[in-house]
Amino acid sequence: MIKVKDNIYWTGVIDWELREFHGHELSTHKGSSYNSYLIRDKKTVLVDTVWYPYKDLFAQKLENEVGIKNIDLIVINHMEPDHGGSLEEIMKVNPDIPIYCTKNGAETIKRHFHKEWNFNIVKTGDTVNIGDYDLVFVEMQMIHWPDSLATFVKGPNVLLSNDAFGQHYAALSLFNDSVDSCELYQEALKYYANILTPFSPLIKKKIEEIKGLNLPIEMIAPSHGVIWRDNPMQIVEKYYEWSQNYNEGWVAIVYDTMYDATKTMAEAIADGLHNKNVKCKLFNAAVTDRSDLLTELFKASGLIVGSCTVNNAALSSIMSLLDEIKALRLKNKMGAAFGSYGWSGEAQKIIQQRLQEAGMKIVEEPLQFKYRPTKDELDQCIQMGERFAGKL
Ligand code: FEO
Repeated sequence: MIKVKDNIYWTGVIDWELREFHGHELSTHKGSSYNSYLIRDKKTVLVDTVWYPYKDLFAQKLENEVGIKNIDLIVINHMEPDHGGSLEEIMKVNPDIPIYCTKNGAETIKRHFHKEWNFNIVKTGDTVNIGDYDLVFVEMQMIHWPDSLATFVKGPNVLLSNDAFGQHYAALSLFNDSVDSCELYQEALKYYANILTPFSPLIKKKIEEIKGLNLPIEMIAPSHGVIWRDNPMQIVEKYYEWSQNYNEGWVAIVYDTMYDATKTMAEAIADGLHNKNVKCKLFNAAVTDRSDLLTELFKASGLIVGSCTVNNAALSSIMSLLDEIKALRLKNKMGAAFGSYGWSGEAQKIIQQRLQEAGMKIVEEPLQFKYRPTKDELDQCIQMGERFAGKL
C-alpha cells in the first residue's frame, strides 16, 4: 500500500504490460493502473477494486495488509470490470459488507455477479460518517457509465473520482508532480478523446455542479493512472475546456490510398493550407494507430478526408474511421472530402455525407480526379487547401 494522504492509501495494481483496453478497442502504449483505495479511519473502507485478472493478487494484498474480514464497508464508484471485477473475491470472505453505490451501480453489480449483497444506494450529497472523516457522494451518471459515482473524503479532502480525470498510464510515480507532465497530459487527453467525448455536454454540466458544491478539493485520485496532487483543479479546468468543442486551430488531412494518387492529392492540399499559414498534419488512416488518430482529430479544427473509390465505397480504414467519428460525436469542425477514382467514383460523396452526418460543417464540394492527378489537377488541390484555410 502507498500512502496517498493522511489515512488514505492506494492499494491498486499497476499493469505495465497492458497495450489494449476495452477488449481491443483502445491502444494503451504506456500501460495502465487500476487504482483501489483503502481508508483507515474508525471504519476501514475499501473504495473500488481492480480488474479481475488481478483478483487473487488484490485479495491477497488486502488480506496481508488489513485482513478482508476487517473491512467495514465498500464503495463501488463504478462496476465496469476493471474496477468492480474483483468484488466477488472480497465478498466471498466477508459476504455481509455493506456496499455503497448508486441505484444503477447495484443493478450493474447484480447483472455481473448475480448475487444479492447488502447494497446501500446513495445519491449526490449523501454522506456517511466513518470516524474522523465523512464520505460525501457525487453521482457522475454517464461519466462514463450509468452507474458512475465519485466519493469525496471530507477531512483529507480527497476526491476519489473513478474514471473521470484518469489516464491509461503506468508511471514512475503515483503523483502528478513526479511524472513527465507531457506524457501525463497526452494520456489524459487520449482518455478523454476516446472515451469521454460523447458525454461532453454532461461533463460540462457536471463540472459546473461540482464547482457549485464548493468541496475543498486538495487532491483528485482517479482509478487509472496518477493522482493529481499538485494543483488538482488543473485537470478539472482542462476537462471543462475539452468538453466545449475543443480545437487547436489546425487541420487534419486523413486519407487512405492504393497507388499514391490520393496521397499526392493530400500533399497538395497541405501545400495550399501552408500557403495560407494554416498548420496541418497528414495521417494515413490505414497505418496510424486508431486511438492515437482519434486523439489528434479531437484536437483539429478541420478534417479533410480522402480515399480512392473501391467497390463503390471508400477504403475500409476510412469507412470505419468515419463511423467512429460519428459514434464519438466529434463534431463542429470544418470538413471536406477528396480522392482519386478509377470508374464509378462514389467514395468522395460518401465521405462528405458521413462527415455531414457526424455534425461537421462541409465547406468545399468533394474534389475527385480520375486515376493519377495531372499538374493542373494538383494545382486545384492546392487551391482547395487555400480556400479551406481561408474559411477556418
Ligand atoms: Fe476504467 Fe469505466 O472503466
